[in-house]
Amino acid sequence: MKQYKIAAIGGDGIGPEMVAEGVRALQAIAERAGSFKIEVDWLDWGAERFKCSGRFIPEDGMAKLAGYDAILFGSAGAADVPDHETLWGLRLAICQTLDQYANLRPTRLLAGIRSPLAEVTPEALDWLIIRENSEGEYAGHGGRSHRGSHHETATEVSLFTRHAIERIMRYAFECAQDRPRRQLTVVTKSNAQRHGMVLWDEIAQEVACSFPDVRWDRMLVDAMTVRMVRDPGSLDTIVASNLHADILSDLAAALAGSIGIGPTANIDPSGRHPSMFEPIHGSAFDLVGKGVANPIGMFWSSVLLLDHLGEHRSAQILLGAIERVTADPANHTPDLGGTARTQDVTRALLAALSGDRS
Ligand code: IPM
Ligand code: MG
Repeated sequence: MKQYKIAAIGGDGIGPEMVAEGVRALQAIAERAGSFKIEVDWLDWGAERFKCSGRFIPEDGMAKLAGYDAILFGSAGAADVPDHETLWGLRLAICQTLDQYANLRPTRLLAGIRSPLAEVTPEALDWLIIRENSEGEYAGHGGRSHRGSHHETATEVSLFTRHAIERIMRYAFECAQDRPRRQLTVVTKSNAQRHGMVLWDEIAQEVACSFPDVRWDRMLVDAMTVRMVRDPGSLDTIVASNLHADILSDLAAALAGSIGIGPTANIDPSGRHPSMFEPIHGSAFDLVGKGVANPIGMFWSSVLLLDHLGEHRSAQILLGAIERVTADPANHTPDLGGTARTQDVTRALLAALSGDRS
């Protein structure tokens, strides 16, 4: 029997509670499939460890992580540690070291969930956002000087390399090619940002030549927000820089009903390093310990994890079970306007999984 080794990293805020729910879903689906096992190691990396030891990740941590088939991640960010410390000390340290350069954010209107867009249909709102995940505005270049004086200065330099743009563009065209509509929108801001973003446009044009069966177009990021709201059905696969896609994916999640349901995959397409799966919602300190956070984003991230491991049938079954759960408003947590608690949603999911023997 196949055995997958999964590293479970709860991180901060509601992250650990959510990862626990994700692991329950994965164990249930493995049991149901009967053809693979999920072995989970819990890694206590996060802000608490940082406060005690000065490190988010233990010294031998990254070497250890290389031995896993995938990582299930909760969230990074604690009320009493600056956000940039947790981001760079934990999440980006993992994504960048493991070269998880493709960040995938599928967005769909799940059954039973209402969009703030009055007349949108599930066919119209079915997108795959691909976020460049290794450089751009998150490259970490820049510095500060003249601290405390009137001349205090800070630079935040975006880094755009041909290497990284080419590989994410190729990946995005491949993803578009695999989806029924075979359509890609390349998002930049190349009117105002005339170096890096123009390089994006040029490389898009070059890579497009290898994918004659994919229809593609270009959008400026500001106009893209309007199109997502006004004409969602005109979009399918979307590729954008690290920061642009970060912002667009929050808008996408809100349009699909709640940021509590959005999933993410941080993929190393070369397969040399483990990929990492996490909900997009973040650590939500206000919800910690209350038992009302929505685990759907984590369940859907677990679907992406199963797909990545090649367990496509189980991924489909889990996604089907998720939609049977969301179809019933009694399973909606407060972010969706309901009164269900986290445990109610998980219970409903496990019931849907055991009831479905098709
Ligand atoms: C996301 C989040 C993170 C990001 C935060 C928590 C730093 O917003 O995954 O979209 O900006 O990458
Ligand atoms: Mg974000």
